[in-house]
Amino acid sequence: MDRLVEAALAAREYAHAPFSGFRVGAALEDGSGRVHSGCNVENATYGLTQCAERVALYKAVSEGGRGFRRIAIAADNAVLTPPCGACRQILWEFCGDIEVTLANLEGKTETLRLSALFPRPFDASYL
Ligand code: THU
Repeated sequence: MDRLVEAALAAREYAHAPFSGFRVGAALEDGSGRVHSGCNVENATYGLTQCAERVALYKAVSEGGRGFRRIAIAADNAVLTPPCGACRQILWEFCGDIEVTLANLEGKTETLRLSALFPRPFDASYL
């Protein structure tokens, strides 16, 4: 199995999702090959919930990770779970058009580019 998918599945085990019950894991590979993982962390106010993708990204950035190459996202869903809109915007900002692998617990995967999920993004090039 792809080590990034493996890391996303492992991170999912730590998900704090008592409100939705929907557990997500993400793993991001940086330019030096280091893997940074994260899980969703929910909050009783709901709105303060952090998605797995952003937890992985912010952990990575705060530990010096740069030049991200790809991300894997794992959830327990027959229909593979794509990143939410907010995560697409944040991933674009830090990672550009990276490879995104969606995975579930049955070993199903799909790999696509972030630009396919997030066409015509707004970014710093417009400022
Ligand atoms: N969630 C993620 O962590 N990543 C996604 O791409 C979609 C949604 C989380 C947020 C919340 O804890 C739960 O899944 C239900 O929305």
